Amino acid sequence: MDVDLLIYPDLCDSFGHLNQASYLTLFERARWEAMARGPGMDFFQKAGVWPAVRKAGIDYLAQAFPGDTLRFHHTLTHLGRTSLTLRQTARRVSDDQLIATAEFTFVCLGTDGRPVPVPRPFSDLFSSSAEGGEVRRITVHGVSLAVDQGGDGPALLLIHGYPLNRTLWRHQLGAFPGWRTIAPDLRGMGESDAPDLGYSMATYADDLISLLDSIGVDEAVICGLSMGGYVAMEILRRHRQRVRGLVLMDTRMEADSSEGRKGRDTAAQAARDKGASAIAEAMLPKLFASPDPGRVGDVWNEVEQMILTTPVPGIVGALSAMRDRPDSTGLLPMLEDLPALVVVGEEDRITPPDAARRMAELLPMGQLEVIGGAGHLSPLERPDDVTRALAGYLASLSRVSAVPAGRPS
Ligand code: MLT
Repeated sequence: MDVDLLIYPDLCDSFGHLNQASYLTLFERARWEAMARGPGMDFFQKAGVWPAVRKAGIDYLAQAFPGDTLRFHHTLTHLGRTSLTLRQTARRVSDDQLIATAEFTFVCLGTDGRPVPVPRPFSDLFSSSAEGGEVRRITVHGVSLAVDQGGDGPALLLIHGYPLNRTLWRHQLGAFPGWRTIAPDLRGMGESDAPDLGYSMATYADDLISLLDSIGVDEAVICGLSMGGYVAMEILRRHRQRVRGLVLMDTRMEADSSEGRKGRDTAAQAARDKGASAIAEAMLPKLFASPDPGRVGDVWNEVEQMILTTPVPGIVGALSAMRDRPDSTGLLPMLEDLPALVVVGEEDRITPPDAARRMAELLPMGQLEVIGGAGHLSPLERPDDVTRALAGYLASLSRVSAVPAGRPS
């Protein structure tokens, strides 16, 4: 349920901004307003239950001023027996700017002060907002990640590249009968939270493993594109037992050269100074088979939007994580019993086919698939070919698991 609230001057500081402490009041007011429109403001008295705030966190993302109307949206991100976690977002109605996000964990207490089960009308009020195609959110390590899922069966985790988001995989989501596809936004990108600090390959990898834990997945085939491939290799370093198969797409195993590392710092400074548009301008001409937007078509604009909407802390964080990532050349030959597919766009100018060939040669069970007519973003440029390559690989895995000895000779 969305609630609109007008900002009055009494909530603002002497600089005329909505004051940080007032946000707490507004998030609470929005919840009461939702209660008033739902089970009623007196619901808790009548039910003899009180939701006590156990934990609160607010990310302040942009300024708001008197006269602005903020729209508060509520999503239930966790429902326990006696506790629940609610994520709230505040957007300015006039320009849809995301002003702040907040997360509150409540424990329901009875009149004797002891925890009691969450009353259904209370959780239903907020969980209903998660229906109708609303993005599912899962909080890991204090950061709320947006995640799309499709299909049912063994898990295929799709990890997007930089500075993109999960919609990179929109053609592949749910495209593999008998498989459950899971496409999250990495922290700092898409609709996931973008903390100012705390970015590294290890953090991305641990986030995704915690996400799998939260949705009850023990083992997954992991498929990473470009930076997503770096994350996949880090997952293998840290959580090998959780990986059933590996797809490395439009990526490379080598760490950055010293020149590449300097380039990351320059890009981070440009993002800080000029915002995501500086990154979009530099990257777009290199991402597709052709540097000409006219030849690339709608996908160019789609990817431009993805980059422009990536929060600057997420861009800067990803650049530092990529800059400091370890070399994986020694890792790949050790993945002896791991069926692996390496996919690359024939025209990929960022991680070219030669880099893919080297990885496929080092992987003991590696195969290579070159996608004709695609650049660095093959799942968007040649979606059907990529889906076909993945489907063939997944089918081969099912055959491998059907062999009684467990492994092909
Ligand atoms: C990506 O597409 O994820 C990045 O371009 C990878 C990189 O810059 O190394």
